[in-house]
Amino acid sequence: AVNMADEDAATTAPGAGLHRHSAELSIVLPSFNEAENIPILIGLLDKTLTGIAWEAIVVDDNSPDGTAGVARDIALKDARVRVIRRIGRRGLSGACTEGVLSSSAPFVAVMDADLQHDETMLPKMLAELKSGAFDLVVASRKVEGGDMGSGLSSIRTFGSNIANGLAQRLLNVTLQDPMSGFFMVRRDRAEELAPKLSPQGFKILLDLVSSAAGSLRIKELPFTFRKRQHGESKLDTLVTLDYFGLLLAKYFGDVVSVRFLMFGLVGASGLLVHLVALRAFLLSDVSFNGAQTAASFVAMTSNFFLNNQLTYRDRRLTGLGALVGLLTFYAVCSVGVLANVGVANLIYADPAYWWVAGTAGAVMGAVWNYAASSALTWRK
Ligand code: GDD
Ligand code: MN
Repeated sequence: AVNMADEDAATTAPGAGLHRHSAELSIVLPSFNEAENIPILIGLLDKTLTGIAWEAIVVDDNSPDGTAGVARDIALKDARVRVIRRIGRRGLSGACTEGVLSSSAPFVAVMDADLQHDETMLPKMLAELKSGAFDLVVASRKVEGGDMGSGLSSIRTFGSNIANGLAQRLLNVTLQDPMSGFFMVRRDRAEELAPKLSPQGFKILLDLVSSAAGSLRIKELPFTFRKRQHGESKLDTLVTLDYFGLLLAKYFGDVVSVRFLMFGLVGASGLLVHLVALRAFLLSDVSFNGAQTAASFVAMTSNFFLNNQLTYRDRRLTGLGALVGLLTFYAVCSVGVLANVGVANLIYADPAYWWVAGTAGAVMGAVWNYAASSALTWRK
């Protein structure tokens, strides 16, 4: 009788009788407005990956077209499909990293969810990793036999070539196609490198490879990039800007973050805005002190909006939040001026070295503004 009871308890416990076989391969599918593509893609994976224990992880940044819901409907019927829905965050690289880290499979692929990547590559890529000879396999459009296909416009092909060249020269990356968004990696290696990756931008592969500093054994396999059928590309000028930020940050050995670089660039643009505004106020007969104060506000306002659009676009403030943000940003920058002047004064000893004190003050002010505004204005 005791045995019977035990057996009963075991079979009625939550989850009892449900066997989830652990996957050998996780396929991370970052998505933003891909509601039409996800069901087709999952169908294609199912067809192609026979004999492989796979799972798909859709990482959706709360797409307005309801991609997460569509993916969840599939997951209800197919336990191999999981969904991560991120709210208040945007960014392809960050989404990919999060997907990779949520996996427990030994091998993880990252693949676009828009059908531009050829899913029939996956078994070949997996075979290369399972051979043990490589840590990372890249589906490449640039090696012999690969093709940009009709996937990219000629202007984007041109831009992509420049970006490639820069990456290869600046970062000593030997990959032919460091911009590919299609690769498979051993999870243990990815996990080790994940803390170094930048969540913004599109270049997770380049980031991964340059962060590994030559320690990854890499294989490139050719494939043809397909044309997009449904929906549209999200790669825009902001993404490009971000790419150059990543190049610079990696080039300087990650001493400064992409975000700080961007913040600094915005700050430099603010100086220009300040001078133009100052001139304009002076021309309209405002006193120097009045003009200088007004110009400071114009520059701070411009900096706030640029940082909100660029530097902190993943934490972008809108509506009332933006107004409150603007006010805290004014406050932060005002203290920044004090920090600037204070440090400059401390250091200033010899009039011949006025610029040393000036620069130290400005750097101190920038560091303060950056640290304080990321903690107060754009806090997580
Ligand atoms: N979660 C999430 N968040 N997914 C995103 C985001 C985002 O902010 N932005 C884009 N995605 C998803 C898209 O839904 C798609 O599945 C995939 O990431 C690629 O985005 P596309 O917008 O289609 O990029 P693309 O086709 O222009 O660029 C492709 O080619 C580039 C090289 O030419 C991508 O593979 C890039 O990674 C690659 O560098
Ligand atoms: Mn695409």
